[in-house]
Amino acid sequence: MIVIVGCNKGGAGKTTTSVNLAVALAQRGSDVCLVDADPQRSATRWYAEREAAELRPAITLIEKRDNITQTLKTLGDKFDHVIVDVAGRNSRELITGAVVADVIIAPHQCSQLDLDTLGELQEQVTRIRDLNPNLKVLAYHSMASTNPSVRETERREFLEYLAEFPEIQPLAAVGFYRKAYKDAIPNGKSVLEGDNALAALEIEQLMKEVFDA
Ligand SMILES: Nc1ncnc2c1ncn2[C@@H]1O[C@H](COP(=O)(O)OP(=O)(O)O)[C@@H](O)[C@H]1O
Ligand SMILES: [Mg+2]
Repeated sequence: MIVIVGCNKGGAGKTTTSVNLAVALAQRGSDVCLVDADPQRSATRWYAEREAAELRPAITLIEKRDNITQTLKTLGDKFDHVIVDVAGRNSRELITGAVVADVIIAPHQCSQLDLDTLGELQEQVTRIRDLNPNLKVLAYHSMASTNPSVRETERREFLEYLAEFPEIQPLAAVGFYRKAYKDAIPNGKSVLEGDNALAALEIEQLMKEVFDA
């Protein structure tokens, strides 16, 4: 499966989601290729740490920018799963990747600045579906508040906002704001390799919903 982790906002949790999914799939025994299509190279830096620490399971990382259509097609034939981390803006990589992808996972925080970019995503998706009619687009509520007094209201607001964009389906899985996600990155790790069971469970739920559905 080819999965683009993309949206039109920086800092939404794309790289964090990408690397966690890549490790989760590899832990299941899949042959995984992580494609870093963001010139900021965050996934590549994460991968360098993972490689230096000789962490297992090993995954493959490829850097590719601009038009990534052909690269993804080729990688899709060779690997069980291809996870693509793109830049947070209306990027050529998001568009050229999405025309051959099975799914876009679009992380968004429940903040006006993040959710305001959904209209742009929906427009892009409408155009891409002319070429790739089966493309699924799933919004992932990222960095959600764990504070019990705002947790439910925040989730409701997120879902109400998403309801305005029928081309984008909200995932039931939610990623909460947890230090464990931040701490894993500089060590080249996933939260599945750390000691925060709640963060690990969130990634497992996301995995089930995207890959076992
Ligand atoms: N669930 C989370 N909990 C806490 N911090 C997070 C979480 N997801 C991402 N972050 C942090 O937020 C920042 C932006 O995340 P990143 O994955 O780099 O987003 P993007 O790739 O969309 O720009 C990083 O500092 C990252 O460590
Ligand atoms: Mg990133």
